[in-house]
Amino acid sequence: MKAINVEKLSFSYDKQNTILKQLSFHIEEGSYTTIIGHNGSGKSTIAKLLIGLLEKDEGSIYIQGIELKEETLQTIRSKIGVVFQNPDNQFIGATVADDIAFGLENHQVDPEKMEDIIQNFAHKVGMNQYLQQEPTKLSGGQKQRVAIAGVLAMTPSILIFDEATSMLDPKGKEEIKRLIKEIHQLHNITILSITHDMEEVAQSDHVIVLKQGRIVMEGKPADIFLNDQQLKDLQLDIPFQWKLKQELEKRGITLSNELTIEEVVDELCQLRLKK
Ligand SMILES: Nc1ncnc2c1ncn2[C@@H]1O[C@H](COP(=O)(O)OP(=O)(O)O)[C@@H](O)[C@H]1O
Ligand SMILES: [Mg+2]
Repeated sequence: MKAINVEKLSFSYDKQNTILKQLSFHIEEGSYTTIIGHNGSGKSTIAKLLIGLLEKDEGSIYIQGIELKEETLQTIRSKIGVVFQNPDNQFIGATVADDIAFGLENHQVDPEKMEDIIQNFAHKVGMNQYLQQEPTKLSGGQKQRVAIAGVLAMTPSILIFDEATSMLDPKGKEEIKRLIKEIHQLHNITILSITHDMEEVAQSDHVIVLKQGRIVMEGKPADIFLNDQQLKDLQLDIPFQWKLKQELEKRGITLSNELTIEEVVDELCQLRLKK
């Protein structure tokens, strides 16, 4: 069974300009998929369709085998958590603890268990020291971590991030990317992350490249980054470590595939030791 299965999905906001054009893709259970594409290519529209915030014109969406329609909307929403771009739009509570609890209160969780659950999820995102703080006083990265804790507390099987790191400073971006990777490795959650960050793409299992509402490339990050010219034409870049790898290859030094920046550095250090 696929976590997400989208078949020939079409959508338009105004019934004139088609934003998504017969889009088909599927996402494996437990995988970490990134969606990239220039601004306006329809990425957020896909996220909103998947959680039923928008209604499709044509095609179908299946979440863990269940077709998304009015009757299944609540069931499907209980399976999917979403973290949006702007950390300031996801806050409502007086304290961090209130924020994490917010979703749970609508889910009739036993009040006696609430405290433990809040502690547990705050701990998972490294925010247990901040439970009594005012959310407004936190940094962007910390706010996103709290938002992630709140979403995780609902125990979704699919997590969607819609540019969750794009408004953060470099430190915040790093924190959240590391956290997404950790959540994927530790919990058996399917991750779908819309991002502009090629370092994040490099840490995912699968990439979908969107252009004007159509999928133009799809595959493993290592394979997608080979098409650097095509990515450039889409105003997308490849990660620094991939550029470095390509330059080294021109000079006869071949590094292995599936490389993060740490792996590149490790391999270069080993090469130097061998000399
Ligand atoms: N609420 C809306 N009403 C009309 N058009 C919209 C609305 N939201 C987005 N669009 C248009 O749909 C297209 C895709 O938008 P979006 O999915 O937000 O792109 P992305 O997230 O890839 O930047 C864009 O051309 C955008 O202008
Ligand atoms: Mg968007």
